[in-house]
Amino acid sequence: ELERTFIAIKPDGVQRGLIAEIVSRFERKGFKLVAIKIVVPSKEFAQKHYHDLKERPFFNGLCDFLSSGPVVAMVWEGEGVIKYGRKLIGATDPQKSEPGTIRGDLAVVVDRNIIHGSDAPKTAKDEIALWFSHGELVSYTSNA
Ligand code: CMP
Repeated sequence: ELERTFIAIKPDGVQRGLIAEIVSRFERKGFKLVAIKIVVPSKEFAQKHYHDLKERPFFNGLCDFLSSGPVVAMVWEGEGVIKYGRKLIGATDPQKSEPGTIRGDLAVVVDRNIIHGSDAPKTAKDEIALWFSHGELVSYTSNA
């Protein structure tokens, strides 16, 4: 099924100069970039993004971190991109992500795991709507 997912390069990934490396992995796979911007999210915005985790002990630190610097927010489109995007990214804990995945190759600790990707169709829809307005997404198919 042709899907869209939300992918963010977090402040650690941006600071470490990994934007091109990460974009390249999604591009080479064959997924299409339909929206991209660089923003510093407010703490309130980060809390909205991570609202599902608000009972977790690391919630406050996680939101502080997401709002600590520039984040590259993207929407990627393609067949099965929600699930396969998670595969490209690797397990949440970089100690458990396989070599060959983004986190497996480029990160070592869970609170600095460089990238976020929507985990299911419902969260993809919600996260895209939170980060982007409809007009910020492009279409690759001509309406002519
Ligand atoms: P992400 O995919 O952005 O979704 C939630 C984030 O919470 C996750 O990546 C990690 O960066 C972070 N996270 C998960 N578990 C922990 C933990 N035990 N301590 C700190 N951060 C965590």
